[in-house]
Amino acid sequence: MEDVFVTDKDAVALPVWPVGAGDVKEWCDAHAGANAAWVGTAGFTGEAGRVLMLPNEAGGLAGALLGIGKGDDPFIFAALSETLPAGTYRLAGLAGMQGRHAAFAWALGTYGFTKYKARDRDIPKLILPENVDLQELSDLVDAVFLTRDLVNTPTSDLGPAELEAAVRNVAEDFSAPCSVILGDDLLTEDYPMVHAVGRAAAEGAEPRLIDFTWGDDAAPKVTLVGKGVCYDTGGLNLKPGDSMSLMKKDMGGAAHVLALAQLIMRAKLNVRLRVLIPAVENAVSGNAFRPGDVLASRKGLSVEIGNTDAEGRLILADALVEADSETPDLLIDMATLTGAARVALGPDLPPFYTQDDQFAAGLTEASLETFDPLWRMPLWAAYDGWLSSKIADVNHISSGGHAGSITAALFLARFVEQAKTYVHFDVFAWTPRAKPGRPVGGDAQGIRALFSYLKKTYGSA
Ligand code: BES
Ligand code: MN
Ligand code: ZN
Repeated sequence: MEDVFVTDKDAVALPVWPVGAGDVKEWCDAHAGANAAWVGTAGFTGEAGRVLMLPNEAGGLAGALLGIGKGDDPFIFAALSETLPAGTYRLAGLAGMQGRHAAFAWALGTYGFTKYKARDRDIPKLILPENVDLQELSDLVDAVFLTRDLVNTPTSDLGPAELEAAVRNVAEDFSAPCSVILGDDLLTEDYPMVHAVGRAAAEGAEPRLIDFTWGDDAAPKVTLVGKGVCYDTGGLNLKPGDSMSLMKKDMGGAAHVLALAQLIMRAKLNVRLRVLIPAVENAVSGNAFRPGDVLASRKGLSVEIGNTDAEGRLILADALVEADSETPDLLIDMATLTGAARVALGPDLPPFYTQDDQFAAGLTEASLETFDPLWRMPLWAAYDGWLSSKIADVNHISSGGHAGSITAALFLARFVEQAKTYVHFDVFAWTPRAKPGRPVGGDAQGIRALFSYLKKTYGSA
């Protein structure tokens, strides 16, 4: 995060007032004069997301009003940092808890993906509201921005090798030993499906399994597995037309777990963390795996390939088997796994799947508290049979096309036996329509809720 916050509470700053839809008259009564008249002239009604700049007598800026509508969206404060000119501002008339969310939203509104194109403006600064922990705030912002940057970076600059470098970079910051199984070593080390999915990629972009651990071995084991498909062409079942254009984001799950790991390590949570990222490109070449192939898997199950575009679950399955072998207390995977999850819940609401009701309740509570939406969906046992194959132990897709996010989750669950709690997230990792604080592009979903849950559950060492 750049320097967005000013910690000197007495610094010179322009006031910004959040005003609800029913509160405009009250504000005008309390601020009688030219500014109140200007509110009427401009037709400001406190509508959510509208920023009304207030002029001073010299034609400069005296302050601003932010319409907050019904006051139910804390991210609305991002409209300020997205619109106001450079300068220092303070929020006037904020109630309690609002400060933390408002400051977070302000920071989100300063995001820019500047790798290929410089920003065209200077960022406005905010005096940190009362009782906001700057360290905690900037850790959260950094995690979201790391996710966004990784997802936004095209595959030409973020293939499996660069994803590995990004993971090593974070691991090194915390002296976490990181190992990688690369290319054909995946065969000797028994990760047949990671190899099969990734083997068609060009030299230098070989498939790999990235693995790091951190923390006290005696602490509860939390293991994160992220789908690192750096590009998903669909393989021989090539994605049609427009469906491929966003597929640089198919390593979104890996970006999510890496950012969550960074949060965990910065906060020194009392856990033994392990991160496993299978990183591949689902490419097309003469040696690509084919629809109809039967793959071996780390678990020993034979897996019939119904469609090479359902590649994510294959690489995750091998990684999950390794993760499961140490009986983690909590095993989490995150993946841009199915289009079906979007059909069911849309882009803003990622489903999660778990058999652990207590975990689900705790996570849902954390999701509401952090305004980080998540929705539990069922591992519906009756659909498990849809994955049966005539010639192999399991098919990785079901034939009907119904309940695609659920059947993907059921496939993954077949590879986890020992973890005390297992949860799978089917995330979109992308904002298709801009909202305050969320420009079109990569985004983090669920990691703030997860971090809040983990912090509450395990505490800091
Ligand atoms: N990466 C895609 C899923 C995806 C597509 C996520 C679009 C977000 C937006 C995944 O690998 C995939 O292609 N899944 C297929 C599975 C199908 C072939 C069973 C899908 O969802 O269509
Ligand atoms: Mn695919
Ligand atoms: Zn994919």
